[in-house]
Amino acid sequence: MRYQSILRSVLSTAVLPSAFAAALFLGGCAQPQSNMSAPSLYSQLGGEKGITTVVHTFLINVSKDPRINGRFAHANLAHLQIALVDQIGELSGGPQVYTGPDMYQAHKNMHITDAEWKAFMQDFCNTLKQERVAPLAQQELLGLLTPMKSDIVGH
Ligand code: HEM
Repeated sequence: MRYQSILRSVLSTAVLPSAFAAALFLGGCAQPQSNMSAPSLYSQLGGEKGITTVVHTFLINVSKDPRINGRFAHANLAHLQIALVDQIGELSGGPQVYTGPDMYQAHKNMHITDAEWKAFMQDFCNTLKQERVAPLAQQELLGLLTPMKSDIVGH
């Protein structure tokens, strides 16, 4: 009895915690390897070529959307196309560098409304589907753009 209780206390204080620690350690090692083998968002979007196609189709779709096309009636679309490709390239892990104004500066005094934001994001989402971007990559990219809302809307 005495040896059994000693054994039990040794197991619970030494062996089980270290087995648990080893499991945690091994679990922690396995994860980064599987993440490293996953393709980057940039490559899932098809690199610069794929992103350029998405942005081009998006600007066509925006220009057909009566909810927001008035906003872009006098815009320099060639410049906007380049800026968006650089911005999305950089955001998704590509070599591009966005050198334009930050999102607050770029949209201030435009008084963009919540409804216009929704229309813009809906057009973007539909464009990603239209260009057959994989669903997880769609979500990831939309997740990178969504936090910009507070800098863009209502100023
Ligand atoms: C995540 C959402 C958005 C992103 C990433 C974005 C990005 C940009 C960028 C990079 C520029 C160019 C800045 C520069 O170089 O001067 C720009 C300009 C502009 N954006 Fe946005 N924008 C977003 C949402 C919106 C929304 C919702 C609207 C209105 C419905 C809008 C309307 C405009 C307009 C009118 C310009 C000026 C274009 C010009 O005159 O050349 N943007 N945006």
